[in-house]
Amino acid sequence: MTFSKKLKQLFSSSNKKNNWNGLIEAYRPWLPVTKKTPIITLQEGATPLIEVKSISDRIGKNVRVYVKYDGLNPTGSFKDRGMTMAISKAKESGCEAVICASTGNTSASAAAYASKGGIKAFVIIPDGYVAQGKLAQALVYGAEVLAIKGNFDNALDIVRQLSNKYPITLVNSVNPYRLQGQKTAAFEIIENLGNAPDWLCIPMGNAGNISAYWMGFEEYFNAKKSQKLPKMMGFQASGSAPLVQGKKIENPETIATAIRIGNPVNKEKALLAKEASKGNFSSVTDLEIINAYKILGKEEGIFCEPASAASVAGLLKVKNKVPRDSTIVCVLTGNGLKDPNCAIENNDSVFHTGVEAEIETIRKKMGF
Ligand SMILES: Cc1ncc(COP(=O)(O)O)c(C=O)c1O
Repeated sequence: MTFSKKLKQLFSSSNKKNNWNGLIEAYRPWLPVTKKTPIITLQEGATPLIEVKSISDRIGKNVRVYVKYDGLNPTGSFKDRGMTMAISKAKESGCEAVICASTGNTSASAAAYASKGGIKAFVIIPDGYVAQGKLAQALVYGAEVLAIKGNFDNALDIVRQLSNKYPITLVNSVNPYRLQGQKTAAFEIIENLGNAPDWLCIPMGNAGNISAYWMGFEEYFNAKKSQKLPKMMGFQASGSAPLVQGKKIENPETIATAIRIGNPVNKEKALLAKEASKGNFSSVTDLEIINAYKILGKEEGIFCEPASAASVAGLLKVKNKVPRDSTIVCVLTGNGLKDPNCAIENNDSVFHTGVEAEIETIRKKMGF
């Protein structure tokens, strides 16, 4: 290879490490943007796909398990993939304010991208049910936060009505640009593995992300960039599992507050993805979620939020059904730092408090 060719390769858009300007620039031909669209980006996307031996070993059968660590996006969740699109398109249309209902991550992401784009953001959240880190983010990024005495489903009803009546753009996953941006995670997985995985395990709340991934896998498959389509394996928390139970849940409850949603708006799309891929939906208990959360932290050095761990918990739960020699990707949708209270209350580490600042005491406590 000539020197100039080498240089060109080094700085080509496929070389994410050296030249990454966010997912809209990277996947422009696959996204509904034009030269006129102002690109509002925080350089989201290009998140790592990490092999997790501790999970493969628990399954056996020569199965390889990876996690798509989307908690490493700029605001710490996969929502940034959709938000760069939604806010860029809102800006293009001249909109001056956006609104969303949120279990936390959407509000953080909407607030950050709106501030980058010079747009006002309103976020409506269930009072007392949003992890601290997410609330902190929305406030620091400058959103106007309204915490309601109701759950996410009530909040979504309200923002849908408000956005119908007033000049304010809705940026929940009913906004089609959100799913367009989110589908790029499937592209990245195919590029990393050289093909689609056999299974994609993913947590479901409003079921936008599973629908977006399926769209991405189908688009790359149709363009012959992959030779197969994955089975879409969706997981919900057992106290908040409308898609598993096939009915609305009036009062959803789970430690995984990000997926505490009783009436998913993308239900139809998610069911289509399940059927077309011959996948499956099932539920995991909060205990199973926390078990997976701890394994990832302690055995892999990967800190995700509880909702994300539902994908790994689900895989472990159905491990007997995993085909021999298969490749599986579990999506880790959010960063563990979002929910410090959950982390401090749910770990098996030794934590000595109030220790005298004195070497002998410390030596004894350390067991030397
Ligand atoms: C961390 C995390 N995981 C999963 C989900 C569920 O995604 P979706 O609502 O697209 O199903 C959410 C949604 O808020 C989330 O914040």
